[in-house]
Amino acid sequence: MNAAIRAVVRAAIFHKIEVMGVVKGYSGMIEDEFICMESSSVSNILQSGGTMLKSARSEEFRTPEGRQKAYDNLKKNNIDGLVVIGGDGTFTGARIFSQEHNIPIIGIPGTIDNDLYGTDSTVGYDTALNTVVEAVDKIRDTATAHSRLFFIEVMGRDAGFLALRSGVASGAEAVLVPEVETDYTKLKSFLQNQYKKEKASSIVLVAEGEKMGSTFEIANQVSEEHPEYDVRVTILGHLQRGGSPTVYDRVLASQLGVAAVEALLDDQKSIMVGLVNKEIVHVPFNQTLKNKKPLNPGLLKLIEVLSI
Ligand code: F6P
Repeated sequence: MNAAIRAVVRAAIFHKIEVMGVVKGYSGMIEDEFICMESSSVSNILQSGGTMLKSARSEEFRTPEGRQKAYDNLKKNNIDGLVVIGGDGTFTGARIFSQEHNIPIIGIPGTIDNDLYGTDSTVGYDTALNTVVEAVDKIRDTATAHSRLFFIEVMGRDAGFLALRSGVASGAEAVLVPEVETDYTKLKSFLQNQYKKEKASSIVLVAEGEKMGSTFEIANQVSEEHPEYDVRVTILGHLQRGGSPTVYDRVLASQLGVAAVEALLDDQKSIMVGLVNKEIVHVPFNQTLKNKKPLNPGLLKLIEVLSI
């Protein structure tokens, strides 16, 4: 997010537009927490995880009264365009706000879940992927040394993008994602075959939104049905959400930050800027919120083919 904030601030100043930062997102708009941003305000943040502006979930912004306060504060501070960075919750708020009040809003997709329709990738996703793969590589050492079966839980809310892609990159033997109902049956037949072949280690990545149950429940069930496996569980948790961004994320955030400012200059409103096939796209909030981004079926097949 810092890389995106930097890009928005610098692009605005480049185009001779004054720019202010809102502290703690929508709740900062309601509490009148704005800070003037200069080019130097965003020095040395490109490489840092998190957000210098802080973030918060705002219950009050869900109410018309809260949104009215936010709008009054924007007007008081002479703000006539808004760039928001976040996931579907942020964009839902932005869409309602822009329907009620006359202010152009541009969204930058920022979530490790990559679950936003209309962009190939979201800011933070690639960094989280690399963190997951690094962690799985390390766990693989123990799995191999002790011939163990590890169930590793990966974030992603209701989506399996993070689990699936990191599963391919870390050579996971199986991946359980909420989008696919039959994956447990596949896992069971895989476990039967694998034991016969005596593989040195097995890693199963479980997306946190997996519908079969929690990672511990799934692991317990497998453990009971397959006493021949020495089963362990690791929950990667919030370490997936921090750390210095990858090159891909830094470039993506920079591109989208500049594109957001250019979209405002172009009189666009209520859209998300995204990247599809390396090209900048503008996607109306309505579209990105209405449509579900599909998992790549080719990657699901890869896991099956490569885990034999
Ligand atoms: O949406 C991003 C995300 O990291 C999800 O993957 C995860 O389920 C959630 O946020 C965690 O949220 P919190 O930090 O509020 O527990």
